[in-house]
Amino acid sequence: MEYQAKELFAKHDVATTVGTVVTTADEARAAAEQYGGVTVVKAQVKAGGRGKAGGVKIAKTPDEAHEHASNILGMEIKGLTVNRVLITPATPPEEEYYFSFLLDRSNRSYLCIASVEGGVEIEEVAKTNPDAVKKIAIDPGQGVDEAKAREIATEAAFPEAVFEQAVEMIQALYTVFTEEDATLVEVNPLARLEGDKLEALDGKVSLDENASEVRHPHHEEFSIREEEDPLESKAKDKGLNYVKLDGQVGIIGNGAGLVMSTLDVVAYAGEAHGGVKPANFLDIGGGASAQVMADGLDVILGDPQVKSVFVNVFGGITSCDAVANGIKGALELLGDDATKPLVVRLDGNNVEEGRAILDELNHPLVTQVDTMDGAADKAAELANA
Ligand SMILES: Nc1ncnc2c1ncn2[C@@H]1O[C@H](COP(=O)(O)OP(=O)(O)OP(=O)(O)O)[C@@H](O)[C@H]1O
Ligand SMILES: [Mg+2]
Repeated sequence: MEYQAKELFAKHDVATTVGTVVTTADEARAAAEQYGGVTVVKAQVKAGGRGKAGGVKIAKTPDEAHEHASNILGMEIKGLTVNRVLITPATPPEEEYYFSFLLDRSNRSYLCIASVEGGVEIEEVAKTNPDAVKKIAIDPGQGVDEAKAREIATEAAFPEAVFEQAVEMIQALYTVFTEEDATLVEVNPLARLEGDKLEALDGKVSLDENASEVRHPHHEEFSIREEEDPLESKAKDKGLNYVKLDGQVGIIGNGAGLVMSTLDVVAYAGEAHGGVKPANFLDIGGGASAQVMADGLDVILGDPQVKSVFVNVFGGITSCDAVANGIKGALELLGDDATKPLVVRLDGNNVEEGRAILDELNHPLVTQVDTMDGAADKAAELANA
């Protein structure tokens, strides 16, 4: 969220004003009283376009801050409920710029995007005035030193009056990006305030969760339980690699590549079955024990949208009989909580033994299909039934 991004900015000496985050209109009034003068009340949700949605309002008095906060709290922006607002002193921007560092996966490098046409949606500027949006590749090995920061500031055409501040800020933002292991650091607007002062008036940071546990235990402080998807929270607690999607076919597989392909074949098969789609990504990895299988099924069956589940396992290091026993054990553990049909496709190491275990189990909810495409089709059909 913006206030958290700004905390990280402040930690690394990026010029910004963090403000006060509150959850009630009374607290908003108190914060505005403390600041005195004009303040801004800003919805804190993990979505863009808050201003457009009416989630950013100027308050001339503490009473107005109270009024705006009571309107904004509880509001929905892009499907997310606003539970917090940020109160900051109003500092009217004279010019608004855009600046970001991000991970450019396709080029295996970092990318800087900068524009002096900021403030508004950068996607819009990129469409209407593409020349105003500068993209500068960053070699991760070389990083951004002062010379590179100058090159970026020149390319982006930051005005003379704020040029040196921009050079400093670019380096500081790069420090946020690399030292915090972020995949995105975005400032929009990066504003020129009265007196040619450059300040980050907004901030968005995505942190790489792979780095959090070991390298940045303090990042845990940024996760706000009630703002997370409840199924994703539950999966996280169980150590599962789960991402909630929008469809009806629950997916369990082993190996990220196989699971990604499974999402594709299910989406494709779904076209012939009323347009059903995969409901999630879940990679249970190698060595799937009954407990891991049960945890995975438990999370997926907890999704009210799910109508069928496709378990797609290729036995490599994990043999199919171990997975079949995992499914068997999971169904025993879940008992009456297992309520939706499971389509299981096993292949690879010890496949005959694995299939035999499920044949013998003869569970009313379990259907075995030998091929991935066939199983995807069956799972989609059951989800559409
Ligand atoms: N402290 C401030 N003082 C005065 N004006 C502000 C302040 N913060 C933001 N604004 C104005 O409000 C606009 C919108 O604010 P902000 O960028 O934080 O939200 P947003 O862009 O609508 O949200 P998002 O970045 O999520 O799309 C800014 O472009 C700026 O003009
Ligand atoms: Mg913004």
